[in-house]
Amino acid sequence: MYSQTSHPTSLAQTLKVGLLLTAGFLLAPVSAQVSPPSKAEGYTTAFPIDISQVTLNSGRLWDNQARTLSYLKFVDVNRLLYVFRNNHKLSTNGATKNGGWDDPGFPFRSHVQGHFLTAWAQCYATLKDTTCRSQAQAMTAAMVQCQNNNGAAGFSSGYLSGFPESEFTAMEGGTLSNGNVPYYAIHKTLAGLLDVWRNIGDSNARTACLALAGWVDTRTARLSSSQMQSVLNTEFGGMMEVLTDIYFQSGDSKWLTTAGRFYHAAVEDPLANNQDNLNGQHANTNIPKWLGAVRNYKATGNTKYLSIAKNAWNMVVNTHSYAIGGNSQAEHFRPANAIAGYLSTDTCEHCNSYNMLKLTRQLWSIEPTNSAYFDFYERTLYNHIVAAQNPSDSHGHITYFTSLNPGAKRGLGPAWGGGTWSTDYNSFWCCQGTGVEANTKHMDSVYWSDSSSLYVNLFTSSVLNWSARNIQVTQTTTYPISDTTTLTISGSGSFALKIRIPAWTSGASILVNGNSAGVSVNPGSYATISRTWASGDTVKVTLPMKFRTVVANDNGQIGAIAYGPVVLTANNGATTRPTIDLSSLLRTSTTSLTFSGKVNGATTTFVPFYEGQSFAANTYFTLSGTLPSGNTGSTTTTAATTSRAATTAATTSRAATTTGGGSCAALYGQCGGIGWTGPTCCTSSTCKFSNDYYSQCL
Ligand SMILES: *[C@@H]1O[C@H](CO)[C@@H](O)[C@H](O)[C@H]1NC(C)=O
Repeated sequence: MYSQTSHPTSLAQTLKVGLLLTAGFLLAPVSAQVSPPSKAEGYTTAFPIDISQVTLNSGRLWDNQARTLSYLKFVDVNRLLYVFRNNHKLSTNGATKNGGWDDPGFPFRSHVQGHFLTAWAQCYATLKDTTCRSQAQAMTAAMVQCQNNNGAAGFSSGYLSGFPESEFTAMEGGTLSNGNVPYYAIHKTLAGLLDVWRNIGDSNARTACLALAGWVDTRTARLSSSQMQSVLNTEFGGMMEVLTDIYFQSGDSKWLTTAGRFYHAAVEDPLANNQDNLNGQHANTNIPKWLGAVRNYKATGNTKYLSIAKNAWNMVVNTHSYAIGGNSQAEHFRPANAIAGYLSTDTCEHCNSYNMLKLTRQLWSIEPTNSAYFDFYERTLYNHIVAAQNPSDSHGHITYFTSLNPGAKRGLGPAWGGGTWSTDYNSFWCCQGTGVEANTKHMDSVYWSDSSSLYVNLFTSSVLNWSARNIQVTQTTTYPISDTTTLTISGSGSFALKIRIPAWTSGASILVNGNSAGVSVNPGSYATISRTWASGDTVKVTLPMKFRTVVANDNGQIGAIAYGPVVLTANNGATTRPTIDLSSLLRTSTTSLTFSGKVNGATTTFVPFYEGQSFAANTYFTLSGTLPSGNTGSTTTTAATTSRAATTAATTSRAATTTGGGSCAALYGQCGGIGWTGPTCCTSSTCKFSNDYYSQCL
């Protein structure tokens, strides 16, 4: 869709970028954040409308948010503070300790609290929920107390963690062997504190955030660059991203220097050269590095960093992603295009998609004419992120992996080998953390603006308060159940309304006040309606949906079925891949997304993948026949097959041509963790853990 190798290196391009940068400073929308950043982002064309200006109305995104919100208001802050207070030698106030990945014996305990800080901050920003604000402020006040007790606890100034500072000494000396990933946890704490600082304006959050960032600066400044590179062999999350964001927030360029130390040359240099080195790498260790690269590009203009982020995005989206938008199997990237060969348990780790969506919005904001970014965003949001939450749980618990093996049932354990639902106090996995964040920020990517435009990237019932223009936009829809959405303008002014027209539609139309908008409405582009808008103007967008197949890159006979934006799943628990008769597919209702079709010769019900939590299901099929033409139950259009660029490069065997981590030479690398009784090195199968404590190959 666009060049992967174009970098603004010529003088003319450099000047153009300079002007864009200037434009960014002048025209960045007035932020409604309580404590907005001191520095505007450069090299950015479109800006997200702050979440404080957007509210969701009823629909599946709102439902997911409501469930997570009830958990966020319920969870006991004192329990979450247990490992921090315990480590910093303060009273735990009689709180019960947590289990799972926040157990006082778990290596990277205290990684999850930052996710809660972010989620509470988001709930306060968009909903003005004061319970969420109180929870966040209670935690940040206690975190400052923890830092203030560092002398007595024997820690350096600014340190803040649930595990001792000596873990860093061991990591720097190459002797850390307990499975801890210390900077991974520090990143989460910094990011949570930053979000409470900017969305709530909380001074304790600011104090604790800058003190902990200062500790990181001191700790890393004294290492040689080769020592630092060896530290980076241990998973370190989004350290470059958050330190760059602290630079934007504070305006102090010293944080850019600290951020730059987290450039991991061994894995990022090949990506800058567009070499796919992902096979066998731990996915969620690496995606945050690309986010750090693109955020740092926006601060420094370093085009190598932009190349890393764009190249990696293209590789993952086009050659490492399943139909539902997720990637990885058993937490690791597999060979490029190896999709059909890895339709097994433990596909699609939630954190990976959470981070890929963050990467997607960063890249789109640089290149907002490219609708492919938000086509991927929509696909992954509905079919993976939303689908990973259990809709029958009032606290919205989530599954770590979304398995795509024949007969998979979400939430049916074990945690590793299928995926259980998370729990209130006994899981606290990484994905539970990204789950509370993801489900409280669905409004962050719907509306965007530049100096003369308003972009609509997602279709969901919502209200935009575009305060910079004194305009409100109300979006009314039951999408994706309906293929139509209506935008009603309140207020007046001249601007271009740019609406994403997904690549999967055909015959799309736009009416303004009931008449044709008279603009190009082409799939895979933005339709632009430029006019002087008046209160009461309506824009009705219709995006006809139809069946399509999403074939595996490595096998054109195997594929999933999609209908418009949603991937479908069959209520059929066959445990070997069944055959679907494509010609039998039929939408059976116009008011809900229900379908029927023949699977292994028997008529079977299909629903959107995000509705498929309660039964054993099949999502990938051996394809037979051709899709029906025109029989979609709503809008009638010709069916088409979306053939992804299948190549023959795919290797579906698990021959250990790649190396794992630690001292093991096998694909799956080194296993370990609390309660782990299996072999240290796995050579032929996934490390299987005996409990929920630890499900990660090291
Ligand atoms: C819109 O946002 C502005 C700025 O935050 C605020 O003053 C105003 O009250 C908001 N309007 C509505 C209707 O929410």
